[in-house]
This record gives sequence, C-alpha cells and structure tokens, in this order.
Amino acid sequence: MNILIFGKDGQLGKALQARFEASANWAAKSGLRLHYLGRAECDLSKPDAVSAALDQFKPNCIMNAAAYTAVDAAETNELLANAINAGAPERMAQYAAQHGATFLHYSTDYVFDGSKEGPYRETDAPNPLGAYGKSKAAGERAIEQAFLHATQGQYAILRTSWVYGEGGNFIRTMLRLAQERDELRVIADQYGVPTSAAWLAEVSMALAFDRHGALRAFPSGIYHAVPAGETSWHGLACWAVQEASQAGMQLKVDAGAILPIPASAYPLPAPRPMNSRMQTTKLLQQLEAQADVSEWGHSAVTLLRTPWNVGVTDYVHAMARQHTA
Ligand SMILES: NC(=O)c1ccc[n+]([C@@H]2O[C@H](COP(=O)([O-])OP(=O)(O)OC[C@H]3O[C@@H](n4cnc5c(N)ncnc54)[C@H](OP(=O)(O)O)[C@@H]3O)[C@@H](O)[C@H]2O)c1
Repeated sequence: MNILIFGKDGQLGKALQARFEASANWAAKSGLRLHYLGRAECDLSKPDAVSAALDQFKPNCIMNAAAYTAVDAAETNELLANAINAGAPERMAQYAAQHGATFLHYSTDYVFDGSKEGPYRETDAPNPLGAYGKSKAAGERAIEQAFLHATQGQYAILRTSWVYGEGGNFIRTMLRLAQERDELRVIADQYGVPTSAAWLAEVSMALAFDRHGALRAFPSGIYHAVPAGETSWHGLACWAVQEASQAGMQLKVDAGAILPIPASAYPLPAPRPMNSRMQTTKLLQQLEAQADVSEWGHSAVTLLRTPWNVGVTDYVHAMARQHTA
C-alpha cells in the first residue's frame, strides 16, 4: 500500500514522519510504502507537478501536510496561496475520488471570522477574514466538491489551530524573545487552542489506520482536531515561559513580566479571528467508535480529552533539554 505525504519539511510533515518511524516495524509488516515529498520534490504551486507525483506514486492514502502558511504574506500573495492551499488539494481530492484512495487534509481555525460566542462546530459557516483563511476555505470547498458524486474513496479535512512542532511557531518566538527582552507584550483577547504537531499526527493515524496498518473506513467530512481547553496568546506565552523557567532555561522575563494587550494594540496585515475555539465532539465520537477494536484508538481518544497545556509542557521541556545539552 502506498502512502504519499506532501509537506515533509513542515511541522506536521516532520511529526507524521516521526510517527511512522516510531511504528517502522508495524509499517513494514503491513506492507506500507511511505513516500515523503517536500517542495524540492513537488512544488504544489504547479498543478502538473502534483498530478505527476500522484501518477508516479499511485497512493492508496494521501496525507497533505503542505500549505502556504505565511498568514500575513498571503495578503499580497493571494494567487500563490490559492494555488497551494486550494488548487493542489483539489487535485489530490480528485485523484482520491477517482482511484478510491483515502485523503487526509488539514485546515485552519482561520476559516472562521471569530465572531461566534462559543466554540465553532464543523457545520458553522466559514467566513474567513484574510487571504490565508480564504485560500484554506477554498481548499475545503474544492475537496468537498471533488467528492460530491464520488462512489469510492474517502476524505477527512482536519481543522486545527495554533500548531507547534519542529519549526517556527509562536512558542519558539516567545521563548526567544524572553531570552532577549526584559518585558513582553502579548495579545490577551484572542482565544484558541494550541495544538502539537505530534498530537495531530497521532490523531490522524488513529483516524485513518487500524492497528494492523490497514486503512479504516470513516465518514468523509470536516473534523475539528484540537486538544481540550482553551487559552489566549497571552495565556500560552505565560505557560510556555513558566514551564521553560522550571525546566532550567535562562530567561530574562518571568511570566509576571508578560503584559496582556488587546489585539487592537498589535495590528498585523491579516486580521485574525478573536475566537478560534473549535468543538471536537465529532472527531471524539468517531475515534470512540473505532476505539473498541484498537488500542491505538483508545490513546487518541485520551489525547483528544487531554488539556492543551500538557502538550505545551512536554514540548517546552524537550526544548529546554536540547538548549542545555
Ligand atoms: N501552523 C499553524 O499554526 C496552523 C494553524 C492551523 C492550521 N494549520 C494547518 O496545518 C497544516 C500544517 O501546518 P504546519 O504548521 O505544519 O505548516 P508549516 O510548518 O508552515 O509547513 C508547511 C509546509 O508546506 C510546504 N510548502 C509551502 N509551499 C509549498 C509549495 N509550493 N510546494 C510544496 N510544499 C510547499 C513548506 O515547504 P518549505 O519547508 O520548503 O517552506 C512547509 O514544509 C497546514 O495545512 C496548515 O494550514 C497550521
């Protein structure tokens, strides 16, 4: 069975590789052939390159961890963002629908405008505020459209938020600034859920594969995929700095020196949703339904119920160990 993973050099792409490598015996026994592509091997802004990769590897399962993720730059690079975030996944979805393959794609809280009071559900109407969110929402629609009349294949669009892993992200930026500056000012009125790329890789695997390495059947559609709880950017920065100090990282600021500011005091080219919280009941129920036949599913259900700060603590402590090594 061929698994084709796009975006191997991104945070999620690296986490997926690590997750498959952790199950290398399992993957070999199940006859999984894993193909990882980065920008150098397949430029997703070029439709022919996407088609060529699909034709070459003939995947039974496509995992698309690649995306144009530069939220502010997308405002002035809308065409490119659309090609990568909507055009490329459309081709992948068309291939999956035509060839009976499984397609796992990832989307974002930024498809919402953030005006809802409570957590967003999968059925809430997207209304993206910026070009990045618009391109990701267009990608979601293109995938749904490609599967509209499909009689084979399946897809999951996992909408996630505030991702951190191996690569540039908010937590790394905060810890760097906490080493350089005496005081930090961080937005305290935008709410969401920090999500570890490793967490997302684990949940993806549990949704798509059984413990024998066979592809599972699941209802196609959008699933919200974030850990439990919520916080603000300020809450996340405070937690990360506090944990980094406890883990022995030398910082100039402590959590008390991180000042809360409103988003209005830190204008950026692309507007962000004030409320990025997403309800995960649908994914939880799906994983629970699968958990009786798989230990793997059980651990994914536990992950979904685990508060976001547990993952951040693990991540920051691992960073601190690397830092002091
Ligand atoms: N990061 C977040 O906070 C966040 C939040 C919500 C949802 N998401 C979604 O989660 C998924 C994974 O995000 P991530 O944080 O892992 O993103 P990431 O670290 O920015 O990785 C994205 C990857 O896409 C690749 N890419 C960009 N343009 C490409 C092109 N033209 N051709 C081929 N590859 C290209 C990049 O390649 P290079 O390495 O060569 O640049 C990079 O490796 C994405 O769908 C994203 O929209 C992310």
